[in-house]
Amino acid sequence: MNSFKTIEWEDDFIKILDQTRLPSEEIYLECRDLESVAKAIEMLSVRGAPAIGVAAAMALAYESQKFEGNDFELFLSKVNDMCDRLRRTRPTAVNLGWALKRMFQKVLDSKNKNVSDVKQILKKEADIILNEDIAINHSMGMFGQEILPDSGTVMTICNAGSLATAGYGTALGVIRAAVEKNKDISVVSCETRPLLQGARLTCWELQKDNIPVILITDSMAGYYMREKGVDIVITGADRVAANGDSANKIGTYSLSILAKEHNVPFYIAAPISTIDVSAQTGEDIPIEERSKNEVTQIKGHQITPENIGVWNPSFDVVPNKYISGIITEKGILRPPFIENIKKIVSN
Ligand code: MRU
Repeated sequence: MNSFKTIEWEDDFIKILDQTRLPSEEIYLECRDLESVAKAIEMLSVRGAPAIGVAAAMALAYESQKFEGNDFELFLSKVNDMCDRLRRTRPTAVNLGWALKRMFQKVLDSKNKNVSDVKQILKKEADIILNEDIAINHSMGMFGQEILPDSGTVMTICNAGSLATAGYGTALGVIRAAVEKNKDISVVSCETRPLLQGARLTCWELQKDNIPVILITDSMAGYYMREKGVDIVITGADRVAANGDSANKIGTYSLSILAKEHNVPFYIAAPISTIDVSAQTGEDIPIEERSKNEVTQIKGHQITPENIGVWNPSFDVVPNKYISGIITEKGILRPPFIENIKKIVSN
């Protein structure tokens, strides 16, 4: 499965599949500095919480190789500036800050080493983060597939697949793992306004893997549940608070309420790096607001009256009471979330 790579090293650049061009064009960006990766994250050329964590770690490793000399304190302060730039790209996905913190710690731990060695350590750590992400997704898939029926329908929103990670995916990883176990799973993909990650990306990658998928607009989800039935909803997350409240793509909150109303179990699939215990509840999760053009235009074409007022939050928060479980690489967390999250993060 997966004939493409979301992000990878080439000899002298970072290669990023430009997700803004999918599905009509499969074009790769060649990033030769930190700024171009930062811009790729801001423009959503690379997106999805785990993928932007990996991209940030790689950008930091790449740019730090350009440092000349052996002044550790100067190197540290440059790395700190790089982290600041990358951290500012997108505020909601905690994996970004998590990956940068991990990289920065590697530098702090290497105080007594030559800067040239520290640069190698950073490169190696970015590789580890990338490979770990794929392994974690497989493990999440293994736990998650057990709750899927032998034959059934999964509804999802946005893209929590290979494209949103270093590979395999979180929510779509669970689906892939079930299909690998010969379960007969079909997917209902909500289109995900305004940027259509569900319509463009989830449909593209599932079709590539021959996993049956049908597309609905976000506003059809309730009626689909009532008329056709859905066995389970599984989405990704950008940040999970200490009490289980989970931020994910705008529309996920509504989906969780619809699932409750129709007695459909609602699951989040997210690695432990997406859990932020410093956020007590969803109230503490910063929600990114993006340009109004994303709502008023489609592919640069104006679809609304000019100068219309717009609110464009990129994410919303699902209260823990609507979540049946959180699928992680260490198993499935169930209520009471406060206790169970505490246990899993301290292990
Ligand atoms: O704005 P995006 O496309 O980065 O939003 C992505 C999502 O909401 C995903 O569901 C989330 O990051 C989890 S990805 C495994």
